[in-house]
Amino acid sequence: MILNKQNSNVASRRAKLALLSGGLLLSSLTQGATAIEPTVYGNVVAPILHAKCVGCHGSDKQKGKFAMQTIELLMKGGKSEEKSIVPNHSDQSEVFRRISLPGDDDDHMPPEDKDQLTKEEIAILKWWIDSGASADAKLVEGDVPGDIKVHVVKIAKANPDGVVVKAAKDPGPVVPPPTPEQEAAIAKIQEDLNVVILPVSQDNPGLTFTAVNVAKEFDDAMLARFDPIAGNLLQVNLARTNVTDGGLGSISKMGNLTRLRLEKTGVTDGGLDHLAKLENLEYLNLYGTKITDAGLAKLSGLKKLSRLYVWQTEVSEEGAKKLTAELPEVLINLGWDKEVGKKPEIIRVAAIEIPKPAAPDPETVYGGLIHPVFEAKCVGCHGADKQKGKLALNTLEALLKGGKSEKTVVAGKSGESELARRTGLPADDDDHMPPKDKDQLSAIEIALLKWWIDAGAKGDTKIADTQVPASIFLLK
Ligand code: HEC
Ligand code: HEC
Repeated sequence: MILNKQNSNVASRRAKLALLSGGLLLSSLTQGATAIEPTVYGNVVAPILHAKCVGCHGSDKQKGKFAMQTIELLMKGGKSEEKSIVPNHSDQSEVFRRISLPGDDDDHMPPEDKDQLTKEEIAILKWWIDSGASADAKLVEGDVPGDIKVHVVKIAKANPDGVVVKAAKDPGPVVPPPTPEQEAAIAKIQEDLNVVILPVSQDNPGLTFTAVNVAKEFDDAMLARFDPIAGNLLQVNLARTNVTDGGLGSISKMGNLTRLRLEKTGVTDGGLDHLAKLENLEYLNLYGTKITDAGLAKLSGLKKLSRLYVWQTEVSEEGAKKLTAELPEVLINLGWDKEVGKKPEIIRVAAIEIPKPAAPDPETVYGGLIHPVFEAKCVGCHGADKQKGKLALNTLEALLKGGKSEKTVVAGKSGESELARRTGLPADDDDHMPPKDKDQLSAIEIALLKWWIDAGAKGDTKIADTQVPASIFLLK
């Protein structure tokens, strides 16, 4: 049972590693382990594309011959002659044209029945293209247009590491389909040995064979039957069979092999001589065999090897490390809690702190008297994170843009301004702001807001150059 638990541990760790294998973080995030400033592309645009597009346009599939898991590929475009992205011109960019078409248009992306972009995500992509489609422009809150700011910040905070880009798969050796003579040989082997030999996939005529159903009987002589199709085999699983060092002579003829499982067989160091020339081998499992460091050293020519399992063998950590010096891409598993070699690169960055907009000048009426009121009593509901009533009060710009009423502040006319009306209403009125269970404005603060609006709602008037009516400060 302990073994099972260990196995499932390995499995989950493997799954995690598989997810990240060959993974590299976006270049903008890999430069050193200290806090790295977020970028618009890496922390906002790429996460949107990876969530909604890369499933069909990535390393596994390239619909329309278009991939966009990296910015280089995104810029390169797809099968059409259209330019996917024209920096500064969303109107000339095929990507923008496709995502902004009506949902039922045949050209609309993503296809109608798939997870759609939100209107904010479309606006973000447009903004990024129109501001130059840069790969490394830093994300500075002050530069983001007000209507998308909250969404941009939210996406960036949810993606502090950017996205993990899967390396495009090495297509591996190309093997022609079996000749008629080979087909005949395959049919005979299948019949005689009671096994199945299959093409790897619909698109790949290379062959895969597993002895798992006949492992108890399967031996060197049976393996020798595969010689006529040796060059066609890409994957062979001989785990738990009776295959020995002698049998591996047949394996040495399988020059296109990419995956080989020999765990729990009688293979020893002597047999590994036969594997030395399998230059396409990417995966080799020798778990539970008699091999030692001396045998491992014979694998130093397997330049494509990326995963090697030697758990429960005589191989030492030192021996494994020696091999990683020869094969820098390999990750060697020595047990459920021990691995040496190239680990997927994961660099944690500090939690994103997007620079706050500069505080307004405290010598001005707005900066010294008005803004502090909003900061203290309103921005919890009307700020960068939340914008109740579509209103933000954390900057003068946002305040003047206003909220859903579109008459939040009418400069010079407090009587027409929602802000003055709402704050001036009796506390039990439904429209009163702040809501009645929240920290309320004082009479002075209410009067100050009204006076500031009537004086033109300006940002730059200095307190020293103006006269705040004494009556305001006499209020209780
Ligand atoms: C469910 C799969 C799927 C998803 C998800 C998807 N696409 Fe596509 N895409 C396709 C297919 C299929 C084609 C080819 C047919 C066509 O041109 O309409 C295509 C073609 C394209 C093209 C044209 C490439 C060229 O040069 O011909 C662009 C641009 C594009 N997609 C952008 C996107 C964007 C941006 C997203 C994410 C917002 C996305 N796609 C999501 C399936 C998908
Ligand atoms: C606890 C949350 C909360 C606080 C604190 C709060 N508000 Fe609101 N505010 C809301 C909600 C919810 C709405 C939208 C519903 C509505 O219109 O009543 C709103 C709407 C508004 C509107 C209308 C926007 C428009 O243009 O239509 C104004 C003006 C406003 N608030 C001003 C303020 C001011 C000024 C403060 C601080 C003194 C404040 N609010 C504090 C929750 C809050």
